[in-house]
Amino acid sequence: MQEKQRLDLSLAHVNGLFLRVLVTVCVLLGPINTIGAENSSGMDKALVIYFSRTGNTEAMAREIASRYQADIKNFRADEYSEDFSGSIKANMDAWNEKRVSVIDPETIDLRPYKLIFLGSPIWWYRPAVPLWSFVEKNDFQGKNVVLFNTFNSQFKAENIAKFQALVEQKGGVFLDHIYVRRGRVYNQIDREELLAQVRGLLASRESKWIEVIR
Ligand SMILES: Cc1cc2nc3c(=O)[nH]c(=O)nc-3n(C[C@H](O)[C@H](O)[C@H](O)COP(=O)(O)O)c2cc1C
Repeated sequence: MQEKQRLDLSLAHVNGLFLRVLVTVCVLLGPINTIGAENSSGMDKALVIYFSRTGNTEAMAREIASRYQADIKNFRADEYSEDFSGSIKANMDAWNEKRVSVIDPETIDLRPYKLIFLGSPIWWYRPAVPLWSFVEKNDFQGKNVVLFNTFNSQFKAENIAKFQALVEQKGGVFLDHIYVRRGRVYNQIDREELLAQVRGLLASRESKWIEVIR
């Protein structure tokens, strides 16, 4: 009888140990299983990609990413640094309607994403040279694209149409162009106003793309 009790006790101990190991394994593996699946909001993924030389487009990008719980990535273009030589180079290349420049990184894996927000400042009435370069160097096959820009006063619609054509040539579906006009130098909206405008803009325009990430 005592022998049977001892056997029962050691079996209970083994069962308890097994359960603890099982729970530990589940806890450890749980998060691994969800990597690459839907993000925490349950939406299919959106990605915000941007180039910003002086921070305005970056602020817009962060606001967009936060609204849609999207991933966010940027690329650099160091030849267009914030100093005088960078400014000269940016003006010259934009004026010459260049479509290729040195960007880092050159490519970003777009495969997990259904919707790509692509952002840059406007340089000489068109999206900045590095953004054209990014589209030239990446595969947009089947990707929905929303272009976003910040600028001071003006862009040309014909240049947005050319940018759309490039996105389409690279396999993308161009859904929308959204932008914030900051105003002419010495009379520009501040960062808070810029963000408020972005929020208003998204609320009024998102019906054009929200279905894609629902
Ligand atoms: C080389 C260069 C060209 C620009 N050309 C224009 C332009 O054609 N139209 C305009 O409204 N603003 C123009 N701007 C102003 C920028 O678009 C504006 O300051 C933008 O918000 C900067 O964004 P960022 O801070 O993300 O770099 C130009 C700025 C630079 C540096």
